[in-house]
Amino acid sequence: MGVLEGRRAVITGGASGIGAETCRRFAEEGASVAVLDRNGDGAREVAKAVGGIGFEVDVRDADAVSGAVRQAAERMGGLTDLVTNAGTGTAKPLLEYTDKEFALLVGVNLTGTFNTIRAGGQIMMDNGGGSIVTNASLTGLRPTRGEGPYSAAKAGVIALTANVALELAPAVRANCVAPGMIDTPLTAPITQTPAWKRAAEFGTPLARLGTAREVADVIVFLASPAAAYITGQTIVIDGGSVLPSLQSDAVLRAISGG
Ligand SMILES: NC(=O)c1ccc[n+]([C@@H]2O[C@H](COP(=O)([O-])OP(=O)(O)OC[C@H]3O[C@@H](n4cnc5c(N)ncnc54)[C@H](O)[C@@H]3O)[C@@H](O)[C@H]2O)c1
Repeated sequence: MGVLEGRRAVITGGASGIGAETCRRFAEEGASVAVLDRNGDGAREVAKAVGGIGFEVDVRDADAVSGAVRQAAERMGGLTDLVTNAGTGTAKPLLEYTDKEFALLVGVNLTGTFNTIRAGGQIMMDNGGGSIVTNASLTGLRPTRGEGPYSAAKAGVIALTANVALELAPAVRANCVAPGMIDTPLTAPITQTPAWKRAAEFGTPLARLGTAREVADVIVFLASPAAAYITGQTIVIDGGSVLPSLQSDAVLRAISGG
């Protein structure tokens, strides 16, 4: 028997990468899954593969999200889990971001997360509660050059998750994952270059990029009864990439004459 047997989950951004892997892992663990994504064909394809249902939804559209979550809950016979994973990112110098780019990054990553939680939260409260897992990023905890608006939106996701944990307790637990650099279609344009791969491996104590499966497994854990007393937390999944200190490394090199 799976650790999510009988659960009914809505997973946003489920057509690709971490979201698609989370849909597969939830289904493997016994959950019914509704896949929401702006890529309707992708959502339906993943849904078909996991015996779930797919919806074409842009998470920035509050009414569309609310309608899809309501329908998903009706068709699955309830709602016990939300995984707010839909996201988008880009990198460029901070002062060059346009209004449109800033609005997109905040709209998808932060407003989309809020829209999904608002759409599903009350249904979950009315039906005995459950678990919400949001997907932020390591960059929401410490800056990444070029990712200012994305970082700010993800920091908002972390703060929002803690608030949800406080306000929807005790019926609903809410936790957040903060992945480092994970090998998915989102990061492929940079991570597939040999130079970048070498740099990532050098800068990560575990010496490699993470996989979508490794993030999905933590999301499953946070949703499962094994995490029954965990709420309001942000779990970093980064192979230790945040640990090295450029400053102490430079001091050590200077002392050893390197
Ligand atoms: N890959 C990484 O290194 C990494 C690191 C930290 C955080 N994250 C976060 O993980 C989440 C998943 O990223 P991924 O790497 O799997 O990327 P991905 O591009 O493979 O998947 C993202 C999915 O979100 C969907 N999406 C984008 N905008 C949407 C919108 N407006 N409405 C509905 N769906 C939308 C896309 O269609 C896609 O299916 C994102 O929130 C991302 O910010 C990823």
